[in-house]
Amino acid sequence: MNKSVAQKRILKLRAEIEDLRYRYHVLDDPKVNDAVTDSLTCELRVLEKEFPELRDPLSPTERVGGKPLDKFVKVKHSTPMLSLNDAFSRADLEAWKERIKKLKSDFKGSPKSDFLEYFCELKLDGLAVSLIYKDGLFLRGATRGDGYIGEDVSENLKTIETIPLKLRTPFPKMIEVRGEVIMAKKTLRELNRVYEKINKPLLANTRNAAAGSLRQLDPKLSRERHLDFFAYDITEISKLGSSTPTWELSSQVDTHSNKHDFLRQLGFKVDKHEAVCRNLDEVWSFTEKIGKMRPNFPYGTDGVVISVNQTELSKRLGFVGKAPHYAVAFKYPAEKATTVIKDIIVQVGRTGVLTPLAVFTPTLVAGSTISKATLHNFNQIERLDVRIGDTVVIQKAGDVIPEVVEVLPKLRVGHEKKFKIPTHCSVCGSKVEKKEMVAYFCANSNCPAKNIRGLLHFARALEIDELGPKVLNRFRDEGLISDASDIFALKKEDISGLERFGEKSAENLIVSINARRKPPLWRFLYALGVLHVGEETAQDLAERFGILEKIMTAELEEIQAVPNIGPIVARSAYEFFHKKENIDLIKKILKTGIKILPAEKRIAGKLFGKTFVITGTLESMSREEAKEKIRALSGNVSESISSQTNYLITGESPGSKLARAPKLGVKVLTEKQFLNLL
Ligand code: IVH
Repeated sequence: MNKSVAQKRILKLRAEIEDLRYRYHVLDDPKVNDAVTDSLTCELRVLEKEFPELRDPLSPTERVGGKPLDKFVKVKHSTPMLSLNDAFSRADLEAWKERIKKLKSDFKGSPKSDFLEYFCELKLDGLAVSLIYKDGLFLRGATRGDGYIGEDVSENLKTIETIPLKLRTPFPKMIEVRGEVIMAKKTLRELNRVYEKINKPLLANTRNAAAGSLRQLDPKLSRERHLDFFAYDITEISKLGSSTPTWELSSQVDTHSNKHDFLRQLGFKVDKHEAVCRNLDEVWSFTEKIGKMRPNFPYGTDGVVISVNQTELSKRLGFVGKAPHYAVAFKYPAEKATTVIKDIIVQVGRTGVLTPLAVFTPTLVAGSTISKATLHNFNQIERLDVRIGDTVVIQKAGDVIPEVVEVLPKLRVGHEKKFKIPTHCSVCGSKVEKKEMVAYFCANSNCPAKNIRGLLHFARALEIDELGPKVLNRFRDEGLISDASDIFALKKEDISGLERFGEKSAENLIVSINARRKPPLWRFLYALGVLHVGEETAQDLAERFGILEKIMTAELEEIQAVPNIGPIVARSAYEFFHKKENIDLIKKILKTGIKILPAEKRIAGKLFGKTFVITGTLESMSREEAKEKIRALSGNVSESISSQTNYLITGESPGSKLARAPKLGVKVLTEKQFLNLL
């Protein structure tokens, strides 16, 4: 293709991808097919690579995140980014209305309209940003900062799919859009699930998570947090663009509700929960309706923003301190409550990590009754100075586990007891070790408490699907299983005699276990549940050492020398294989007659360096077979989708991964396309 043909094609592709983005994110059009967007983006990427001189910093391919920054540049806001006064009750709203009426009556010369109209919308729980567009192109985006000076976070904002890089026509020559960057509750849950696995501190709530993610100096990290953006205001508009000679801007911004419609037309996502109200009764019904719906929203909302709908009147009302008169934030009762700590108990996780939990009498927080809240780690207990008997503030932060956030020391009576970091595991009595900055672990790899989780991981890793948590608990209680080796020693007669376990289910289970008696080395390593050793690391280890014995006897330096394995992971693996209990357990498992298949050297096959994720049910092969085929050609397989994934293979009834693929720039393959690729 010559340059001029390529240029035309590139421009068309960019416009089409931007249009698909708009239809998908703003119009919520179910007909938009991710695979199409993906395929077009792929073609665009190839063309831009071939003709680098045609690259454009605002091309949809640039959403992947550029180079990390040293620091953020400070920017001055052209109009200050103010905050809102709060209202907590109907009476507060009445008082606000009276203030406006009073101010209005003092105006010299009456404003255009005499009546007051209100606009209600959600107060989204994230952080405010300002976006500037010049000639329809994204110029700069900044955080609110102190309201006057913020930080330029343009590169991070560009990775957010719901922020248009080019506005839809007709657009004004210059426009400043304000809105909220948020993290969806589901995203927070998914990230925390991963963080928990790798012992990374959990994100406390969607607001902190959004703020922290937007302030990452490396845009790629920011992109991995899957932020979202909702526009809510237009603050500054100058001349119309030349492409829009007859179009009148004033009617687009004369009311707040028109501004919202205009934002949608320009290509922004604007939350749909909004209402124009003629009086406070209507406003109040809106807050009540949202109050009921709020727990089910996919994103956090801490209230309703109520503003005077008429723009001209709003401007005339002016400001008091840092807050405007024209708007107020109605806040729902805080999702906090106080309670008295009866005890602090310690939970043992699968990797042996100890997590302190505060126990109290059942307490109602944000609509649900809770009796335990996390204290995260022992450092946190010290930092807050939490004692048993203390009155504390507990919080249901967004969508995450309830936590203790504050102690009320003035309420102490003198009988409160300081908590001592346990020296021994509360479940098995083994010694506790401090391994990482704030984390303590039970040193016994056979600790029954972590064992059941460890057993579940073992069963899942070896794909013995019948062994779910209920069955494992039952078998343990019946004395059938106490460690992983017992799984392979189970006999049909042991199980079929148990209540609610018929002949058939017992047989199915045994067949399933027997089918897993020859696991490949990497799978067995992964199943052992070594701290920090996930599927990929297990494969790297397996490939480097070939057989289990070599890994078990490897020196620390040898493990460290394996590509992709860092010092923390290497030490964790080394220590695991040098602990007597682990060595004994492995010997015991091997004695049950299982045969671990040695790893074959991956000769750089055609899928070398490519990472695949599979979602849904494949027709022509099992998921396991698909994984083996990929690995046979040197490809990698991962369970979770990220920006590192190259392909998502979709079978029937794909899961949520499919929706995330385009956002992550991951190519989606149908089963047929996958077979062709093979
Ligand atoms: S309007 C003059 N609308 O709430 C300020 N703010 O205290 C105009 N916020 O920092 C802001 N959702 O981060 C407005 N729909 C919404 C909002 C919203 C969330 C935040 C914003 C601001 C704070 C105001």
